[in-house]
Amino acid sequence: MAFTGVGLGLRRPHMEQVAALDAAPVPFWEIAPENVVGQGGTRHRLVMGILERDAVLTHGLSMSMGGFDAWAPEVLDRLVAFLKATGTPWHSEHLCWSSFGGAHTHELLPMPFTREAARHAIARVKALQAKLPVPFLLENISYYAALGQPEMSERDFLLEVLEGADCGWLLDINNVYVNSVNHGFDPKVWLTGMPLHRVAQMHIAGHTWQEAEGVLLDTHGAPVVDPVVDLMAWVLPRIGRPVPVLLERDHEIPDLAVLLAERERLQSAYEGALTGVLHA
Ligand SMILES: [Fe+2]
Repeated sequence: MAFTGVGLGLRRPHMEQVAALDAAPVPFWEIAPENVVGQGGTRHRLVMGILERDAVLTHGLSMSMGGFDAWAPEVLDRLVAFLKATGTPWHSEHLCWSSFGGAHTHELLPMPFTREAARHAIARVKALQAKLPVPFLLENISYYAALGQPEMSERDFLLEVLEGADCGWLLDINNVYVNSVNHGFDPKVWLTGMPLHRVAQMHIAGHTWQEAEGVLLDTHGAPVVDPVVDLMAWVLPRIGRPVPVLLERDHEIPDLAVLLAERERLQSAYEGALTGVLHA
């Protein structure tokens, strides 16, 4: 199955409605295993029904790729079984840490931008990749402050880990934009020279301006703004392949019809950006 076009993150408030449809309303969904694996009841039954009908990509939230907590064998076994059940062509996680000493923060926290931390993340990615039945992608995160004494930029840290781990890249274009505003750089310059051949999937989302702090917050709680759509359209032909783009919405979740209309808008921009590439 070819994954292309703009898909949607499957969210709890929409599951019943989606499961009742005659056909998939999107090219593909993205599902977090954490929201399904080990969960019984209605939600599990609905997701399993959707999996049988629709194309699904998986995206993990809790493996803390930059952290130190070991992954329990039963957690890995359940993840592998879920990935096989979905038929996902790859699995992704963020380049961040989110747990420590067994306590989950439910935050995507930046790693120190140091060579030692890069080596640590590379080893964790390689260890997880060795356990998974599909290729692994790392996602770039948004961050608001660098930890400790950085030895390199966030961009160069990401680059070092992607190259060292030799893994795929889930390019979150909204995260690049949010960081560019908060840290004052040109996102197109940031992207130029990055290993776009590693991009297998993109994320796009909305953010929120926080007036009191003067920062953009990566809330996934608003429609995608035009500059982020434009950045997606700018990078797609440079990737040179119709990689799938996933619209994330995690807060202030509107009716499914509203998200489907936003998806249509993004799909038009996507096809416009790839006109020359798709028909070459
Ligand atoms: Fe993302």
